[in-house]
Amino acid sequence: MISDMIKEFPALFEESMQEFIPTAGMRTPVIDEAMRYSLFAGGKRLRPMLMAAAYEAFSGEPWEQSQLLRAFMTALEMIHTYSLIHDDLPAMDNDDLRRGKKTNHIVFGEDMAILAGDGLLNAAFEVMSEAADRAQERQSDAVYAMTYLSRASGVRGMIGGQAIDVSGQYRDEKSVLAMYQKKTGALLAAAVVTGAVLGGATEADQHLLGIAAVKAGMAFQIQDDILDVTGDEEQLGKPIGSDEKRDLVTYVTLTGLERSRQDADRFLQESLDILDRVEGDTAGLKAIIASLAGRSF
Ligand code: IPE
Ligand code: IPE
Ligand code: MG
Ligand code: MG
Ligand code: MG
Repeated sequence: MISDMIKEFPALFEESMQEFIPTAGMRTPVIDEAMRYSLFAGGKRLRPMLMAAAYEAFSGEPWEQSQLLRAFMTALEMIHTYSLIHDDLPAMDNDDLRRGKKTNHIVFGEDMAILAGDGLLNAAFEVMSEAADRAQERQSDAVYAMTYLSRASGVRGMIGGQAIDVSGQYRDEKSVLAMYQKKTGALLAAAVVTGAVLGGATEADQHLLGIAAVKAGMAFQIQDDILDVTGDEEQLGKPIGSDEKRDLVTYVTLTGLERSRQDADRFLQESLDILDRVEGDTAGLKAIIASLAGRSF
């Protein structure tokens, strides 16, 4: 059952990640602790779950059986987790709760939190390049996947979107959506496209999957903004009202809750419609994306 797979995935994935984490060792144990604190704090594990489902849509093999894929899933979650540690810093969103626990800088101090984020980002590239190095006949796919993920998490993707966010240089719906496409859509697209590349998808399918995932990403960020207003802190595991505290312009402040809900649903539906046009077996991917409708955490 796909719904069971969605429920069981986080624990299985966390077990799988253990294998890949580089450690600083005896002299600097605090950075190891700080990195693991955030990486294993929980979280929905949405991005690796999407990567696994995209892989399975084309390879016909369960995600657990590919060490190469598991390395990429770990790397993606490391990149996502570092982005959250830095996003919560006083210089950015200044939040004190993440994944139901105190944020990294509250526990380890700002200096160590910055380094833990940097450490996770570097570890991601170490894990991916070591896996690509071992990939033998899959090496060119692995290098392509790594290139895709690097772009998506960099200034043309997630970091670029975060830079637009902190600059406040956007004032209308169109530019807010362009920002969401980068800060959230790019990493979701990377999850789906790299999973598909490693699974052996055609270029045409990779292209469709990228568009579908960006649409899901925009829905996901709009929902995140809605939850920042209407959510339950305990269920969400992060503070409510963080955007308002910063006077942030979001899709919700621009269009209101009602339109935001409608548009998030519309983006999800458009994403599902595009997945229908993909040749591979996208049932798993569709179930994950459909499960995001009306999410409360
Ligand atoms: C939070 O992402 C940041 C956004 C892009 C909205 P998630 O909602 O996936 O956070 P975790 O991984 O479950 O903690
Ligand atoms: C997305 O935006 C953050 C990243 C891309 C890291 P938010 O700042 O809204 O994310 P949350 O609400 O803190 O999880
Ligand atoms: Mg932010
Ligand atoms: Mg934030
Ligand atoms: Mg938010």
